[in-house]
Parts: sequence; C-alpha cells; structure tokens
Amino acid sequence: MSDKPPKFRSAHSYGKLDRDGFIHRSWMKAQGYPADAFDGRPVIGICNTWSEITPCNSHLREIADYVKRGVWEAGGLPLEFPAMSLGETQMRPTAMLFRNLLAMEVEESIRGNPLDGVVLLGGCDKTTPGQILGAASVDLPTIVISSGPMLNGKFKGRNIGSGTDVWKFSEAVRAGEMSQAEFMAAESGMSRSRGTCNTMGSASSFAAVSEALGVSLKYNATIPAVDANRQAMSHQTGRRIVELVREGKRLSHFLTREAFENAIRVHAAIGGSTNTVIHLLALAGRVGVNLTLQDFDDLAGTVPLLANIMPSGEYLMEDLHYAGGMPALMQAMGDLLHLDVETVGGQTLREQIAGAEIYNPAVIATPDQPFKQSSGIWVLRGNVAPDGAIIKPSAASPNLLQHRGKAVVFETIEDFKARIDDPALEVDASSVLVLKGCGPKGYPGMPEVGNMPLPQKLLAQGVTDMVRISDARMSGTAFGTVILHTSPETSIGGPLGLVETGDEIELDAVARTINVLVSDAELARRAALRPPEEFDTKRGYVALHRRHVLQAHVGADLDFLVGKSGDEVKRESH
Ligand code: FES
Repeated sequence: MSDKPPKFRSAHSYGKLDRDGFIHRSWMKAQGYPADAFDGRPVIGICNTWSEITPCNSHLREIADYVKRGVWEAGGLPLEFPAMSLGETQMRPTAMLFRNLLAMEVEESIRGNPLDGVVLLGGCDKTTPGQILGAASVDLPTIVISSGPMLNGKFKGRNIGSGTDVWKFSEAVRAGEMSQAEFMAAESGMSRSRGTCNTMGSASSFAAVSEALGVSLKYNATIPAVDANRQAMSHQTGRRIVELVREGKRLSHFLTREAFENAIRVHAAIGGSTNTVIHLLALAGRVGVNLTLQDFDDLAGTVPLLANIMPSGEYLMEDLHYAGGMPALMQAMGDLLHLDVETVGGQTLREQIAGAEIYNPAVIATPDQPFKQSSGIWVLRGNVAPDGAIIKPSAASPNLLQHRGKAVVFETIEDFKARIDDPALEVDASSVLVLKGCGPKGYPGMPEVGNMPLPQKLLAQGVTDMVRISDARMSGTAFGTVILHTSPETSIGGPLGLVETGDEIELDAVARTINVLVSDAELARRAALRPPEEFDTKRGYVALHRRHVLQAHVGADLDFLVGKSGDEVKRESH
C-alpha cells in the first residue's frame, strides 16, 4: 500500500496510510478480509433489494453471491449492501409512493460509501427504477441485474399470467362464470417460483428496456429467475463491472438520447407497461437527456407489436426467452434501432445482438408480419388532460379507440368501490368511467387503479371492456381501453376533476384527443367552485413527497432530485 495518487474513488478511503485510512480499513477487516483486499482494487457495491416481503426479489441474495464470484475473479472487492425493497403486491397505499425514497436512499448509499462501481439487484416493479434513478444521480459505472421472470403460471393444464389472469378471473367470478373454489385454486398455480411477474408487466418491461438502454448484459430481461443461466449471467456481470470501472465508463456514458430512443422503440415492440413511461422520463431527467412524453408517441409510430406476450398477447416471459429473448427481438427490429450505441457488456448493440435468431415465430414476430400494427403508447391531449394522458393501444379494444359516451364519475377510489356494483348505478356499456383523486400528490403516490373493474351488472350482460379515464396508473399486467396519467392531476386542479356525471366525453385516440364536451365558460364556473386540495400531511416522507413530487407527464420525480449529485464527497467522517 502506498500514498500514490488515488486511481479509483475508493482510494480516498482505503488507499491512505494515515488515521482516516486506518479507520476505513480496520473496521472492514472485522469481516475477515485480508489486508490485500484493500490494495487499490476496484470496490464494487452490490445494491440489493432482497426482501421476503418482495417475493419477486427474494432470491437476490443468492444472485449477489454469483456477482461476487465474478468481482473477485476479475480482481475487485465486492461489498453487498441493502436498499429499501418495494413489494408491489404488498405495500400500501402503493409502492410507487416510495420509488423516489428508494432512489434517494440508493443515491446517498452509493455517494457516501467508498465504491467505484455498482451492480443493482432489483426486479419488482419499482425497485429497478428506484435503484437506477439513484445510481444515475451519482453516475458511477453501473450494471443492472433483474430478478428474472418467474416460471409460467399453470391452471387446469394451461398457462396463466401474473396479474393479467387475476383481472380476468376476478371479473369471471363477479360475472358468475367462475367459482370461488376455482379462483382459490388459480391463486396457487399463478406464482410457481420466485421472480418477477411472468407477463410483460412493469417489471419485465423495465428489464427489457434495461437491455435496450444497454445497461445490463444480454438476456437479463428474460432468463427465468430460477434458471442456472441467470446465475451465470450474474457471474459475468461481476467480471464485467470491474472492467467497466477500469475503463472509467459511467452510467451516463450509456444513457444517451439514442439509448432512450432505442428503449422507447423496444418498449413499443414488446407492448410494455405504461409505468415505463414515467420511469424513463424520470431517468432522463436525472441524466440530463431531453426526453418528453410526446417522444413516446412520436418515436414509436413506426414500430409494430412484435412480442406476443400477455397482456397484449398470449404467451409469457419464459416463452419469450426460449423464443430468442430480447436479442432476437432487437435483431428483428434492425434499423428501427440505433445499433451503434455502446452497451455495458463492452460491445455495441449491433455486436451484442449479432447472430440472435427467432426460435418461435409464434412468440416473436418480425416487422413485416407483426402481431398487431398498434403498439407503444399514444399520448392524448384535450381539455381534460392539457399536459397529456396516455393509452396503450395494444391492450385496448380497437372498437373503443374512437368513442363518445356519458361520464359516470367517481370522486375517489372509495367512492368507486362503494358504488360500482350498485344495481341502481346508471351506467351502460357506452358509459365512460371517470375516476378522480389518484394522482402523484392526491392519493398520494398514483396507485394502479386506473383499470377500474367493470360494473357487475354489465359483466353479467357480457360486456368485456369500457372506456375508463383517470389520473391513476395501471398495472403493466392489465388491459382495456384505459386512459391514464391525466395531467395535471385532479387534486391540484387538473380539469378532469371538473367532469360531472352525465357530461359527454369524446375519445378519439387515433387523433390523440380526449375532451369533455362542456363549454369553457361552464368549466371555468366549475373550477371556481373546486379549489385545489390542501394536504394536511405534516409528517415524514409522505409530507416531503406531497410537497415536491412532479406530475406524471414529467416522470413524477421529486423536484429536488432531478439532475445529478455526482460522486464527489468533500469531507471526511472523522
Ligand atoms: Fe413484483 Fe410483479 S409484483 S414483479
């Protein structure tokens, strides 16, 4: 050990022979590290969102062990540390409320510790976005490893998909087409292994987008969670992050505008979750890439649906992997992508996907014979969403994309739950269900309730879809003609809040418009009677969130977290 100028960031802590160096090293040696573990080698943080109450991430401590093998082998020092875990199916009022809290924790954990590079272990919907937002603001060399999808669900001899079939079965029970006993049996067959939802839900979508952004190794998105190949890929990631530190390539080196454009186009081709829109906008804000909501519509216009995966299609993530995974899908996309962008694997995207083949054309299509022409995210505007709203056309009913109907308004989700199955509710198949009070500030946290269940009496009549509109999000596993993320949200005066039951609503998704057919003068009169909500939250993180969260159309980040903090910490701890 010497006092020569630090090669890596960690040398500020581990490379000095003085009292500070003693303190930083000595306590670490309590864990049994030999002296040469601090010989100037790159220190790799393994940021782990393992948790038993995030079942999708509950195998990540084993995955961390494989990353460590690779780091040691490549001459680095791996140090695993925990980060807040956000179990999508467990946390209330919604895991999204805490995405930015996780991001803040990850940012300060990376910044405050003597790390030279980071491997992010996440998977469940908000864990990977929260981690990468935080990591992007510090901007060290970083690689993402996802949990990987769980095995295909099984029920009565057929495949069933996480979330997607929950919504279907739940409606079938309410329509009297499925018994309670069958419903319970399906519950045990749906989640057959650890890992993320086996549909193209929010977790799979962000994992796929991570591959398209070039921030994870190939096949990261699709290797099943329990497949030994995921362990091998994690081992290789451990090796590669050490090289990446030696090459000095930070996360921002890969997160370019071109990489985001690839992500948006791949997201369209896979029928990705609407949640990805919010996360990518927030991520672009962290790294200073100019990305807008409109880009999602503009950039994906020529991209058809190529992945036949639920909820837009029929198959599941395990099938997508066996069909060739993301490399085969991106290879099929060809010049729709910027193929010369660099990836963390050390190759260009072109090199990374070279030779990838489609093994099952029933699962991965080609642009000349796509599964559906309509893909991606359409951005709607109008007098109920002046800053935008979104719809996922591949998951909508084509006959409802242009529709006019009378609003049935619910002021809150509790109001909705109390009245939706009331036989006296005045609603028919042409009605437009409107839900308020579900935005980032108002709920708070913008829950996944936008795919409102249909009224029981209409289900019994055989109705399978209706136009629904709200300032909420919806699960990436969900489907329907659902307009989401209306911005600004109703609780801060967004004009969707002015809609009343009986108003006529006109949706023309093809023309990208959504309007309530009420005069401006009448809307102004109603606005004067409906001032923005005053939130009385005073305590802790929720108060901070409510004061600082931005609207959905710019990514719902906290305003003071946009941009970078960087990796430099000027003061010592003792
Ligand atoms: Fe965790 Fe779907 S609930 S990935």
